[in-house]
Amino acid sequence: MFKKLCIIGVGLIGGSIARAARENNLCITISAYGREQDLDNLQQALALKVVDSYSLDLGEAVVDADCVIIATPVGAMPDIFKQLVPYWSDKVLYMDAGSTKGNVVAALSELFSGMPANFVPAHPIAGAEKSGVDAARVDLFQGKRVIFTPCSQTGDNFIQQATRFWLGLGSTVSYMQIQQHDAVLAATSHLPHIMAFALVDLLGRKDEQGEIFKYAAGGFKDFTRIASSDPTMWMDICMANKQHIIPLIEQFCSELNDVKHMLQDNQAQALHNTFTYARNARQRFLDQHNNMTQSMIFTVQPGGHLQGEVRVPGDKSISHRSIMLGSLAEGTTHVTGFLEGDDALATLRAFQAMGVQIEGPVDGKVTIYGVGLDGLQAPKEPIYLGNSGTSMRLLCGLLAGQKFDAVLTGDKSLSGRPMRRVIDPLSKMGAIIESTENGTAPLTIRGQSGALQGIHYDMPIASAQVKSCLLLAGLYAQGETSVTEPAPTRDHTERMLSGFAHPVKQAGNQVTISRLGPLKATDIEVPSDISSSAFFLVGASIAVNSDLTLKHVGINPTRTGVINILQLMGANIELLNQRTVGGEPVADIRVRSAALKGIVIPEEFVALAIDEFPVLFVAAACAEGATILTGAKELRVKESDRIQVMADGLQILGVDAQPTEDGMVIKGGKIGGGTVVSHGDHRIAMSFAMAALRASDTIVIKDCANVNTSFPGFVSLTAQLGLNICSEEA
Ligand code: S3P
Repeated sequence: MFKKLCIIGVGLIGGSIARAARENNLCITISAYGREQDLDNLQQALALKVVDSYSLDLGEAVVDADCVIIATPVGAMPDIFKQLVPYWSDKVLYMDAGSTKGNVVAALSELFSGMPANFVPAHPIAGAEKSGVDAARVDLFQGKRVIFTPCSQTGDNFIQQATRFWLGLGSTVSYMQIQQHDAVLAATSHLPHIMAFALVDLLGRKDEQGEIFKYAAGGFKDFTRIASSDPTMWMDICMANKQHIIPLIEQFCSELNDVKHMLQDNQAQALHNTFTYARNARQRFLDQHNNMTQSMIFTVQPGGHLQGEVRVPGDKSISHRSIMLGSLAEGTTHVTGFLEGDDALATLRAFQAMGVQIEGPVDGKVTIYGVGLDGLQAPKEPIYLGNSGTSMRLLCGLLAGQKFDAVLTGDKSLSGRPMRRVIDPLSKMGAIIESTENGTAPLTIRGQSGALQGIHYDMPIASAQVKSCLLLAGLYAQGETSVTEPAPTRDHTERMLSGFAHPVKQAGNQVTISRLGPLKATDIEVPSDISSSAFFLVGASIAVNSDLTLKHVGINPTRTGVINILQLMGANIELLNQRTVGGEPVADIRVRSAALKGIVIPEEFVALAIDEFPVLFVAAACAEGATILTGAKELRVKESDRIQVMADGLQILGVDAQPTEDGMVIKGGKIGGGTVVSHGDHRIAMSFAMAALRASDTIVIKDCANVNTSFPGFVSLTAQLGLNICSEEA
């Protein structure tokens, strides 16, 4: 891109820009400028080959450069700008890399009587506690955001050039107004640094007398990590942005004061609410951050077998419902075996956000202090549900009857999933729900407390989420609400309502609810998830020498389609020690290797195995002959289009898999190696991991972070049992 790049200030940031620019072939030569007192650092930059030359003379350093980047502390920039004026060229792209933008733009505007068109103010959101060229890293900006704050005078061509440069360094580029940038960064970066420095300043003095640091642990280390940053740089940043920082310090002091009063007045609940709100807000930040940056890759070596005993995590559907009904009940509900995956946790946090006190999960144990059917409170802000369709659809029904409004949002996948299937019948009951034009989230649910009317709804599709949504709305409606389903779907809501002393009427394929009075708290033991077990049922069937026992698995007959289908294919599966736990049938399941054969999957099994088809497709790929699935169009609107995504991946692995509108035709044969993409769909990622047991070469699976939605610990558990799997953050 550039013949000569000149870096003014070759510290951590300037040095890393130079290293990354060279690595990515963005320039031919790199020069550096520094002051007399920076000589050692400049010599080191040359010795490390971070730059090709340096000079203590600014004119000499910038001569013939077509891009100049000022990477000094922000306090030094006005002076550098002044020195640059005699050498300024209108053809050269100038950028800074400072953490504050108002002062940079003000200094330049004053010097040039307006912002020069060829200066693009830039702020890479990356750093480290270390400083100096020794700390410079080639990948410092990889996957990180850089914010540009161009002005009306900034030339489009220069913005484009700057964008290409930063993309070339591996960053993503965002654009912001100067004021907004400085206000946002004051809150999320500058104030936290001041707090960390101030706390360590305070405690450092105490330590001199009492050696208190000796007893400090991880929490203190985490909280104060940023107090190891360069004091000069932070002095500069704070001075430059004080207009935004001072009001925030005042707000923070008042927040601390509120906490002090809560303690003085013994307001334990208020303190708990503050901490709960903060924890939820932090989780939202982490979710967003993970969505943005975290991409997990699984690498699975071919071969291996599965042996031993295993208890997979708790049932996702039952975990969601335990939080919902536990919250609406009167009294305390204790849950064990709760799934600590992101989806069920999204439901848990949603109810905390509506004022329900929930403790845990700790080792799968959750305690819910029910608030009664009418005890939920308005959430302070939109409820973020991540990837979880069950949370969103069931909450729609429940929220329709509240006395407050709520907004439900989700990640990219959830924001693309159809919600009219719940909005339409709920509207018939009198609910008011606003969605996007496409009938997708964000959804605004206008609580219609007391105004919902029971209806009879003939479900056009077999969906437990729609059925459960209407049953929950029925708890708030006048008269009876009944639903008929075209095929049996999971009945956990119905069973659990009975457990909470609020039975529903069941007649054939119709279920009816009316408000009978309060739900009564109960204890819930969540069995292991048959959907998570399905990966092992298939894995142990297809891998030679496998013999695996899955403990305490829920075998509710509305969920066992996967066992029926595998048995038809010739799998060796035994149900042992069958029992009923908390209204749900449970068994230990022993599965051993077997030679599978292709089948035509009976359509009556489709709804009963709806979540297990990705891994059943892998079984079909290992079976002798063709397997044909029809009547499963719903798979196209799950967390991903599971028909297309699985067909694409299987084809990459050399399998003859032909997608159809409502299913797939798979001719069993050999599975090769290759790189497949899960499209953020947890079940697709885990299914391809199992395919490696029979593959001839390594399978790399991209975009696997969402495995945590339903199966935290999948990689370590499967590795223990014999799968050659490892994961890394990409
Ligand atoms: C679920 C129902 C099913 C299933 C989902 C969980 C539930 O969805 O796919 O993973 O907990 O009610 P549909 O109702 O859309 O079939």
